[in-house]
Amino acid sequence: MKTRITELFGIDAPIIQGGMHHVGRAELAAAVSEAGGLGIITGLTQPTPQALAEEIGRCREMTDRPFGVNLTFLPAVTPPDYPGYVATIIENEIPVVETAGRNPEAWLPKLKEAGIKVIHKCTSVRHALKAQQIGCDAVSVDGFECGGHPGEDDIPNFVLLPRAADELSIPFVASGGMADARSLVAALALGADGVNMGTRFLATQEAPVHANVKQAIVAAGERDTRLIMRPLRNTERVLLNASVERVLTIEEDRGPELAFEDIADEVSGVYRSIMELGEVDAGPFSCGMVAGLISDIPTCAELVSRIVEEAETLICGRLASLGVE
Ligand SMILES: Cc1cc2nc3c(=O)[nH]c(=O)nc-3n(C[C@H](O)[C@H](O)[C@H](O)COP(=O)(O)O)c2cc1C
Repeated sequence: MKTRITELFGIDAPIIQGGMHHVGRAELAAAVSEAGGLGIITGLTQPTPQALAEEIGRCREMTDRPFGVNLTFLPAVTPPDYPGYVATIIENEIPVVETAGRNPEAWLPKLKEAGIKVIHKCTSVRHALKAQQIGCDAVSVDGFECGGHPGEDDIPNFVLLPRAADELSIPFVASGGMADARSLVAALALGADGVNMGTRFLATQEAPVHANVKQAIVAAGERDTRLIMRPLRNTERVLLNASVERVLTIEEDRGPELAFEDIADEVSGVYRSIMELGEVDAGPFSCGMVAGLISDIPTCAELVSRIVEEAETLICGRLASLGVE
């Protein structure tokens, strides 16, 4: 299956694995790239630029295919060593960087000079247009359904994607709610050049997280996510659990007076306990509504080939049979 995204990144299938904190390690990125998609190592999951260099080295031992690195710019009490991470990415000749969270303009000259392709993840058409204007090669358009940070506009992909298609000239992928061949074919029909998946790749054999996390996603339905941190304008879609219920109660009690410190104990530094130890109630963790479409834990190769093969059947079978005579 050839699209502008497969051409741009030199991959076989128009399927990207989005950066995921404490999930996007070498094992997963390599498995997705080996399967023909684009795997992405999550830069800031590595505590230092040196650790990222080692993780890139581990990934290269597992695959010869292209993979990327995600750089997330989110509000942080102590900002990470972004210059150091960017230098590591360049020194290690990473071909693709996925940026997210904030306008990546400050880092573009360095990345572009090194010949790196930049795909920026954004949740609105205006931010996608800005990314195009500053020179990003592609965008990942993240709808309201998505796991993680959906922004504050709340536009679902059935409207957001065709709006993006109307406005953008650079390639873009549909992100948020993508799980299977139906998602891919719908995304292509709405004007996208492929899909970006987070939650679906979290529930795969190679995702280097505790089995409890994968089981929690398989068990969850489409109604089992919640939005937290909305009053802080840092909205995150997470899987409902006991900690999320406590956060929502605090948010309701504090109303517009809510400060990050009010919920810091619940949300800070919890990913390690959740992802590594499998303590799935230890705190909130990102998860998309797409959990309702996930009922198995395949290998990345099974997942990617299933999506591509079933998409071809869907296009050439059901959709072709609807063609007017
Ligand atoms: C557990 C988890 C952690 C995530 N962490 C990040 C992150 O650190 N940086 C980022 O840009 N996106 C992050 N995301 C968002 C994904 O890259 C992707 O955009 C999103 O999951 C797409 O929606 P979906 O879950 O419906 O597929 C995360 C998502 C999940 C599920």
